[in-house]
Amino acid sequence: MSPAGPVLLTLADVTRVHGSDEVAVHALRGVGLEVRLGELVAVMGASGSGKSTLLNIAGGLDTPTAGSVVLDGTELTGLDQKARAALRRRSVGYVFQDLNLIPALTAVENVSLPRELDGVPLRTARSEAIAALAEVGLDPLADRFPEEMSGGQQQRVAIARALVGPRRLVLADEPTGALDSTTGEDIMRVLRARVDAGAAGLLVTHEPRFAAWADRTVFLRDGVVVDSTGGVHGPESLLAGAGER
Ligand SMILES: Nc1ncnc2c1ncn2[C@@H]1O[C@H](COP(=O)(O)OP(=O)(O)OP(=O)(O)O)[C@@H](O)[C@H]1O
Ligand SMILES: [Mg+2]
Repeated sequence: MSPAGPVLLTLADVTRVHGSDEVAVHALRGVGLEVRLGELVAVMGASGSGKSTLLNIAGGLDTPTAGSVVLDGTELTGLDQKARAALRRRSVGYVFQDLNLIPALTAVENVSLPRELDGVPLRTARSEAIAALAEVGLDPLADRFPEEMSGGQQQRVAIARALVGPRRLVLADEPTGALDSTTGEDIMRVLRARVDAGAAGLLVTHEPRFAAWADRTVFLRDGVVVDSTGGVHGPESLLAGAGER
């Protein structure tokens, strides 16, 4: 378990209602969550329990109906769309449930795109992208297009894109979904290493063996946090020796 650093992300009493009146869906109801640098938090719960909504709000892709989201000292709900997008590009790496790779770009172009949007010079962005692809074992396929890769390979490209550059919050929505268990473990190792190197991570997964890589797990049911395990402040974690993983 990594020693937890300062708080990077705080969700306080976050509610998200989709639609209104008779068709209103309460995707989140009063969720509170704190994630520190050096901490990987797994989010589990049934389909429709609000996991993706939670990640979207944490990363500034969606805004809560009520409540507050503070990322790296900035209250996201107070920002306009442009400022929120800039903070997101700078600080947040996101692995989407449906990948969202751009079909017309090669693997390395997909990965370097967020850095180019950040204003990083092309050659630097490209070498950072190659390094991120190497982290997930895909640098040999850098010049392939998504349709020329298997589902698992595409997933690893999406993970490289989330890890490229110095992003401090890594949000991963079932990043192991299309992977065999060996590759899944490899991906968890990469996520874990990034978090141990000083990032904060939120990982949605249905699989306990992947959640086991996290420092703690938060369980959602119908938009409410119903349970959590392995809190970094719990007595067990204080008694447990450091650095076993
Ligand atoms: N844009 C939307 N409009 C209306 N309802 C939505 C919208 N997005 C999500 N919902 C609803 O909000 C609830 C939570 O959805 P969410 O996608 O967060 O679930 P999830 O836990 O990620 O599920 P899964 O495991 O299937 O990915 C669901 O009832 C869903 O139907
Ligand atoms: Mg989801």
